[in-house]
Amino acid sequence: MKNDMIEVADMKKIVAETAVDSFVKDGMTVGLGTGSTAYYAIKRIGELVSEGYDLTCVATSVQSEVLANSLGIKTVDLDVAEKVDVTIDGADEVDPGMQLIKGLGGALLREKIVAAATVKEIIMVDESKLVSKLGTVAPLPVEVLQYGHLHTRRALERQGCVAVLRMAGGVPFVTDSGNYIYDCRFEGIDRPYFLEMAIDSIPGVVENGLFLNTAYEVLVCDGKGSVSRMSESVSQSGGQREIRVF
Ligand code: A5P
Repeated sequence: MKNDMIEVADMKKIVAETAVDSFVKDGMTVGLGTGSTAYYAIKRIGELVSEGYDLTCVATSVQSEVLANSLGIKTVDLDVAEKVDVTIDGADEVDPGMQLIKGLGGALLREKIVAAATVKEIIMVDESKLVSKLGTVAPLPVEVLQYGHLHTRRALERQGCVAVLRMAGGVPFVTDSGNYIYDCRFEGIDRPYFLEMAIDSIPGVVENGLFLNTAYEVLVCDGKGSVSRMSESVSQSGGQREIRVF
């Protein structure tokens, strides 16, 4: 039987190009995400710039900045931009409520700061990133100061996880801001808001990879190359938060 499913790299490319074409308009200030899906989005943004779009871009990592500049995309420091109109970024997990885990690419700190300055945070994923509960597939990355990091690790583990220091080439991975990352393996995160508060209150923690109520829209590419969208809507009855899929 013929297998019509496309490769993960193709899904990433399709969803990234759909996200850019749907949300990036001439004259905007655009946040550039980090990772293998953001790579395709930055490439597409480079094409728009070469077609004449006047974009001001803010990168969420040195890696994305270098790629953007190599494609002729102008980047500025976040503080030069008053606000960011739209940021296009990937994610490691997306739950049915559009809550996210990010940071396996190591850029969670700047990604979260840029997201907080962004009007519309657009997340693009292939369908393998969809989970019924956060923390069931990906670990939760937590960026910590190098100083006293073994003590920070013990405090993280008291939250019910196994915390593993991220390594690269046999030495600890160091983020763009000079910190370490612990990848915290939970058996599912039942109460992400409480966990976020608990983690953030640990001395030595710089930032965590829970991105709660951050996404404006999530675009998902399935194995057949179709892109669906999740967005937040307020229910007519009682004003509760609902997620619409279309
Ligand atoms: C970078 O720090 C991450 O938040 C990425 O956005 C996330 O890991 C998704 O990466 P991929 O697009 O490479 O799967």
